[in-house]
Amino acid sequence: MTRYALVPAAGSGSRMGGEKPKQYLPLLGRPLIHHTLASLCAVPAIAKIFVVLAADDADWARHDWSLLAGRLEVLRCGGATRAESVTNGLRAMAAMAVAADDWVLVHDAARACLAPAQVEALIRTVGDDPVGGILAVPVADTLKRAGADQRVQATVPRDGLWQAQTPQMFRHRQLLQALECCPDVTDEAGAIEALGLAPRLVAADATNFKVTYPADLRLAEWILRSRQLSSAEQS
Ligand code: C5P
Repeated sequence: MTRYALVPAAGSGSRMGGEKPKQYLPLLGRPLIHHTLASLCAVPAIAKIFVVLAADDADWARHDWSLLAGRLEVLRCGGATRAESVTNGLRAMAAMAVAADDWVLVHDAARACLAPAQVEALIRTVGDDPVGGILAVPVADTLKRAGADQRVQATVPRDGLWQAQTPQMFRHRQLLQALECCPDVTDEAGAIEALGLAPRLVAADATNFKVTYPADLRLAEWILRSRQLSSAEQS
């Protein structure tokens, strides 16, 4: 069974505020998504990385991808929602000789601080699981449900609650069928769960966060820079 990554990158990043989609914002001298793709490329168990762009994406061609050459396949089939972009990408992969039982690791373009070791842990732990699995973090904070007046309506017990991250790793045909059945989900696991299946939770850490708000860029820069420094010290 071959493993592929599928990176939905067709969002506009409206919560970021600016005009440029967030995947192209500069981060340590490269577009943010370059870091995301470089991490996936650093995992030898992943044969190819499919990148789903919006059909009218004008930014991709403005950047240099030569460091990742040979591992990327660009699909210009983004949809109106993240789930639609992933579904379109899975359909395009089927037309490119990806087999029903091949694994697909779906990863948000905006999670630029993904460490290759976390991907390897996911692949190792999921192994040949009949369902698949996701990276996630146990919830550490106390959770409040807000009322309409932005006052606390209730405290939600956090026992057993995890925050879902990506990559989310499922078999190609099962994931496509799940998303075709349940397009109104915010992650792939949600669609698989709607089929009555229980994906495995693989513990990750908070550095694999999704860059969403302007201040997140500075945090991502700090994480990537401190990793660069510690690997330079080790070599
Ligand atoms: O907007 P959000 O941060 O939840 O998006 C998560 C990921 O899904 C991002 O990588 C974004 O580019 C992608 N996306 C997409 N197509 C959309 C909306 C989001 O590929 N229509």
